Amino acid sequence: MTDRELVQAAEAASRNAYAPYSEFMVGAAALLRDGRVVTGVNVENAAYPLGVCAERVALSRAAAEGTRPGEIEAVGITASPCGGCRQWLAEWAVDRVAFLHEGELLVRRPDELLPDSFVL
Ligand code: THU
Repeated sequence: MTDRELVQAAEAASRNAYAPYSEFMVGAAALLRDGRVVTGVNVENAAYPLGVCAERVALSRAAAEGTRPGEIEAVGITASPCGGCRQWLAEWAVDRVAFLHEGELLVRRPDELLPDSFVL
């Protein structure tokens, strides 16, 4: 699957976003090394800070299915990842992050998105 196809999977997923407050629908799609694709959407809440980003939903779904850091080849997103999601993408050691930014498909490594990131 190409990075563009992965972002298209994220776009398809974004139709299921639950974003009644911001009305900003986000989709994410994680390509696992075994070929599976796990999607996520942003899920908002009336208590605004409790909402979750699409990327973290996709990574959490992958985790729930037994995936561990290093086992995700790429993540496609319909928007530029927020700072918190950049930390998650670093933790999950994905090879590539592909996302739409100002109409352009950008492909970055996590360390380009978050240099010198916090690790334990
Ligand atoms: N959002 C994401 O899902 N991922 C990001 O990386 C950026 C922001 C969501 C959170 C909120 O539901 C909406 O976009 C507007 O900020």
